[in-house]
Amino acid sequence: MSLSNPIGIHAVGYALPSTQVMNQHFVDIGLDTSPDWIASRTGINARYIEPKNLTSDLAVAAANHTLQQLSLSKDAIDFIILATASPDHNGFPSTACIVQEKLGITRPIPCFDITAACSGFAYGLTIAASKINAGFGKFGLVIGAERLNTLLDWSDRRSAILFGDGAGAAIVGPVDQGGFLAFNQGADGSYADILRCDPKSPSTDFNGKSYETPRDLIHMDGAAVFKKGVGVVVESIKQLFDSTDKAIESVDYFVCHQANRRILDSVASKLTIPIEKFLMNIDQVGNPSAASIPILLGQRMSQTPFKQGDLICLVGFGAGFTWSSILLEWS
Ligand code: ACO
Repeated sequence: MSLSNPIGIHAVGYALPSTQVMNQHFVDIGLDTSPDWIASRTGINARYIEPKNLTSDLAVAAANHTLQQLSLSKDAIDFIILATASPDHNGFPSTACIVQEKLGITRPIPCFDITAACSGFAYGLTIAASKINAGFGKFGLVIGAERLNTLLDWSDRRSAILFGDGAGAAIVGPVDQGGFLAFNQGADGSYADILRCDPKSPSTDFNGKSYETPRDLIHMDGAAVFKKGVGVVVESIKQLFDSTDKAIESVDYFVCHQANRRILDSVASKLTIPIEKFLMNIDQVGNPSAASIPILLGQRMSQTPFKQGDLICLVGFGAGFTWSSILLEWS
């Protein structure tokens, strides 16, 4: 897809819950693991958990953080796209509609959720750019928000250690120059089984409460996800650069979904990209699925903002199996 006029990101913001859970927590609740095992196999030392508030509350906090950075009224937002695997309600209404109401947006703009797991935010940016390019609105609010702690069996040491909660958001709209330069996305449903939510029992929640009745929780074949994840990210980045005149070497920063530090090390090695170009926060934030890319972008912008002209490669990948990469020139 190529855009008729430049469209890019105007601002990004994020929100993290106040409760940070260290690796030691898993030992404390009786799992046969150790903080060092988790850190060395995943790169994760801590993650945030939201025990009480809803996914929409995290999303609204991230949206407000984003809007504060602009002189753009919330009433200028023409649509809301919210990527999540942990919506406020199973089925409906969409969490995006609840966010519209909580933000006090009374204009009857389209609001909808998308389900593309950890690729959700990058899918959302692509949909937003397509809508604006086609004339369906000028400014879009794209949010990735998760409360994955509710989808975890906290007695499963293979999956509970990885995930976290949080939200990030971006305002997408017309820019003077640069912006989104290229997109690549796809899915391979034949790998749907390797990472899925299905009824599980018995199980345990974050507070150690046991459930005998089946609950829909994450089932993950970790080794298969690792292998497929590396494969699709490498291929997607190659295809992305095949579709532009930019060289992969000219990228200043790779902002990839934070699934596992070793996945990113492997991608960097296979593409011979210096690992220093990969921004990371997995150490403190874990894997917040659809929220991972916008939280990473938001933290970076709060600390050392990108400069105009910086070339950034965003890459999401996750359950489905899905992937989405975007080349962005910061404007
Ligand atoms: N602590 C101690 N031992 C553990 C733990 C743990 N937390 N988890 C697994 N083990 C054990 C296993 O039971 C196994 O023991 P066994 O040989 O006695 O059976 C041993 O460690 C090795 O297991 P592997 O699964 O081969 O361990 P691996 O090095 O692959 O690490 C991990 C497991 C961390 C889950 C890894 O496979 C991984 O990160 N995969 C990718 C997962 C991922 O990124 N998921 C999300 C991505 S997509 C998305 O974000 C939605």
